[in-house]
Amino acid sequence: MPYFISPKVLFGKGALKRLGPEIKGQGTRAVLITDKTMVKYTGKIVETVRNAGFEVKIWDGAESDPAIEVALAGSRVLLDFKPQWVIGFGGGSAIDTAKAAWVLYERPDLVAKPIFPKVELNLRRKARFLSVPTTSGTGADVTWVAVLTDTAEHRKIVFVHNDIVPDISLLDTELTVGMPKALTASTGMDVLGHSLDGYTSRQRTDFSDGLCLQAIRMTFNWLPKAYKDGKDLQAREKMQNAATIAGLGFGNSNTGLSHALAHSVGALFHIPHGRAVGIALPYSLEYIASKPPLPNAPEPVEKLGIAARFIGIDATSDQEGAYRLIEKIRELEQEIGEPLSLNEAGITPLRMQRGKSPAAFSGYVGGKKKSS
Ligand SMILES: NC(=O)c1ccc[n+]([C@@H]2O[C@H](COP(=O)([O-])OP(=O)(O)OC[C@H]3O[C@@H](n4cnc5c(N)ncnc54)[C@H](O)[C@@H]3O)[C@@H](O)[C@H]2O)c1
Ligand SMILES: [Fe+2]
Repeated sequence: MPYFISPKVLFGKGALKRLGPEIKGQGTRAVLITDKTMVKYTGKIVETVRNAGFEVKIWDGAESDPAIEVALAGSRVLLDFKPQWVIGFGGGSAIDTAKAAWVLYERPDLVAKPIFPKVELNLRRKARFLSVPTTSGTGADVTWVAVLTDTAEHRKIVFVHNDIVPDISLLDTELTVGMPKALTASTGMDVLGHSLDGYTSRQRTDFSDGLCLQAIRMTFNWLPKAYKDGKDLQAREKMQNAATIAGLGFGNSNTGLSHALAHSVGALFHIPHGRAVGIALPYSLEYIASKPPLPNAPEPVEKLGIAARFIGIDATSDQEGAYRLIEKIRELEQEIGEPLSLNEAGITPLRMQRGKSPAAFSGYVGGKKKSS
């Protein structure tokens, strides 16, 4: 039986002020999990949680593309401090670290083999979960997923369970204003990947379709503006909302081929997640549009045609709409300096032979690295 699941999302003007009343009286201890880059921006949220009657411990051990061991380390902090609220603060990596640490805090019996069982996890016996995203991309603040990396196997492991959908997502737009251009661009492509994957997925529903379509349109309208002027608060707010809307969209549907490819490439070469999604997205859509739909799946060309018209593409057939939508994705990527191929992202056949990438890449414009 299909159903729709969502945390309470606090957004818009004064969202932070509305957090206190939501958590007041629900405990005395909270742990905020973040990384070493974002820890300096935790002041306002920590003050708000303290004013609601909590002692707050900060753990800044989260890392990009978190390894399972990082989540285990986070869970040990939680087991030690025994909070009633766990706060994931940062990009998708920090939020996923916090989500996984929270599960292992609630269920230390899973530590030996951290695979979430399909049965009830029985969370929230110890703590509830608040997410505070600082990138506008993953939607991790509202989804049922925590993506961890198995560093030995060079692969991403997607832990999925309805119980790990956070209780509250707090969208404070000011936290996203400092994102550098390259992070704005790559995380924005993640939003587009989530909404198009979610829209064409076999698990789509009428509810997820509406959210995905809205997120697609908002991304095309607002990502170039947020990229050009990071201080444009309206563009930042729209992209933040779009990321969470897309999270609710794919979180109540699923991701698809672009994410399957991006997870493989990301774990092996450490390309930022949204960039890997952006590279894979046009090819994935071309592929699914060229094949008959899977059993019980929507007709991809028809869906892409509808999405094209929804964002204002003037097409006389679904086929033309699908083609022009995919072209528009490539144009958007060029406009925001994202690579269109693995080669442009610096993944050459030689590097593939050598395996792991030496470094993450940032700031590509038209395939050439920018100085800033
Ligand atoms: N759980 C989900 O639903 C879900 C969905 C998609 C992706 N993911 C996962 O999320 C991770 C990617 O997350 P991400 O794209 O948000 O990036 P990230 O969390 O890996 O962050 C990238 C870098 O940006 C920094 N950063 C974060 N916010 C910033 C800000 N406001 N200003 C300046 N720097 C900032 C971080 O400290 C980090 O160094 C991947 O592991 C991916 O697999 C999870
Ligand atoms: Fe993603």
